Amino acid sequence: MASCDPKFDLEQVFSKGIAMAINGEAAKGDAQIKASNDNKHGDFQCNAALAIARAVGANPRDIAEKILAATPLSALGTGEIAGPGFINIRLSNSALQTMLDRVSMDDLGIEPAPRDHAIVIDLCGVNVAKQMHVGHLRSTILGDVVARLHERLGRKVLRENHLGDWGLPIAMTMSALKRQKRDLKSLTLADLNHAYRVAQLEAATDTAGLEAARAHHAGPHRIIELQTQQDSALAAEQDAKATLLRLQSGDAATVAAWQQLINVTMMEVLETARVLGVRLTNEHSRGESFYRDQLGSTVQAFIDKGLAQEDQGAMVVRFADRERPLLIRKADGGFLYSTTDLAAVHHRVGALHAGEILYVVDARQRDHFRDVFDAIHLIGWDKLANGTQAKLSHLAFGSVLGTDKKPLKTRSGELFTLKALLDEAIARGTDQVKLRANQTDSPTEGTSDQEIAAIGRAVGIAAVKYADLSGDPIKDYVFDLDRMIAFEGDTGPYIQYAHARIASLLTKGAATESSISNAAWKFDHAAERALVLAILSFPATIKMAADLGSPQRVCGALHELANSYATFYQACPVLKAPDDATRLARLRLSLLTKRVLAQGLDLLGMDSPDRM
Ligand code: ARG
Repeated sequence: MASCDPKFDLEQVFSKGIAMAINGEAAKGDAQIKASNDNKHGDFQCNAALAIARAVGANPRDIAEKILAATPLSALGTGEIAGPGFINIRLSNSALQTMLDRVSMDDLGIEPAPRDHAIVIDLCGVNVAKQMHVGHLRSTILGDVVARLHERLGRKVLRENHLGDWGLPIAMTMSALKRQKRDLKSLTLADLNHAYRVAQLEAATDTAGLEAARAHHAGPHRIIELQTQQDSALAAEQDAKATLLRLQSGDAATVAAWQQLINVTMMEVLETARVLGVRLTNEHSRGESFYRDQLGSTVQAFIDKGLAQEDQGAMVVRFADRERPLLIRKADGGFLYSTTDLAAVHHRVGALHAGEILYVVDARQRDHFRDVFDAIHLIGWDKLANGTQAKLSHLAFGSVLGTDKKPLKTRSGELFTLKALLDEAIARGTDQVKLRANQTDSPTEGTSDQEIAAIGRAVGIAAVKYADLSGDPIKDYVFDLDRMIAFEGDTGPYIQYAHARIASLLTKGAATESSISNAAWKFDHAAERALVLAILSFPATIKMAADLGSPQRVCGALHELANSYATFYQACPVLKAPDDATRLARLRLSLLTKRVLAQGLDLLGMDSPDRM
């Protein structure tokens, strides 16, 4: 099938031309095809002649001449030498029309690009009995979009929610709840979170305080107070450890209570995922507890291969290029977060046959993943059955900050919960939509409250998600609802609005898909041509975004498409076009733009309402 990607096609023909025209090493480089900055000069340019000329010590214009003469360009368009040795390329209308025909098909020109092995996306990773906060937003949203991109290309994706559901912190919460005599049946996640905090405070022994009080001959009151605190802290710790032992040995009542904590946590997490439009269900949960029986053998495997050494009673893996070892077993025999992650890779590659594992996790865990990946390379657990090496990568993201550039807090100074934040975004989105619905001639004039609420929800969620997805993930970003929710600028609602405007244009033009899908393409105006090129770049962007794990690229492409459409709409009247053929051609371009916007929004996990 014909390609619909002009840049790709040009790369192909120019690589051929360069190979024919130039001898030796110099011909091996990239054809350097770039979109033109100024469409007066052409649609694309080939910049390869400059580097080649430098390499062989020739005049770049001569090299450009040779390349152009040898390049079988005629099926795509024409070329012209310019400046010091650029080749400006103008695509022919017939080539563009063929490509548009391809993109107009049901799959929008996005062809399947399956892989031999599954891709594991490690996302969400919340901890049992702890409130989800805005940090978890990023892992869940970014991970879901990367998963959708791969799925769109027909790849097998396994979403793995590496739930923090094992270990002392949970036992602490459980024993605190028991001491408070709380009925586990009626608990919410907020209760659990509170119990967890209380448990942490209880366990924080102030030994130094007590010693200081003794040394400074503090009053007996103070010493008794501190002594009691310390005693109860010790008791709490012992109780938590006993609970952990009961849990580890499978005591039925303890396991049931533990399961209840997981259920309460997951109920809220999955509800949040539903509100966010993220594809995450209980089937995706495979918590740390899943690996609990493999931790001993994991450590043993490292010992047996001579890859782990004892260090003051603990077991560590050392690396040639750094001081910091990876601790895999504590001196008291306990296992760690890292041990679990090693066992998880073993399972994912060995049993799930993952050819790639992408960890969508906070940048503060960078060292952890670097160490885990290197330990895995050392022991060879990244080898697939057919001998190929699975790719392990960390999609690291920064923090979400308040407008004061500090960690996001509510007015009362507490950290925002994810739920509070989403409620706020939905309320603001709904206000925006209401405001418009009250204007005469607005497409939403007279819309039912129920529908307004649905649109408002879609807008609020898109605002939050787009802000999260559109930047470089490693950078911290400022959570500024006012900016995020605006219908102008680089925002989710702006893309949705562009889509909705086309929808109402098509309604006004009484243009059904079948009535315009046979219209002949026409793009004489520069703004039409720019729109066509923006549309045609979309399928390749999706592939690239999936391969690089970069939702940011999808946002960028959609933003550019929405902008190109706005320019086109300003410059080229659609319903009042000079003649029927032009009107139909412009309607057809509008329809195609709408379909691409809707597809892009869907890949970003956002709704595309027809009215806003
Ligand atoms: N529960 C961890 C945390 O909150 C995140 C888990 C990330 N995934 C992993 N395989 N380590 O920090």
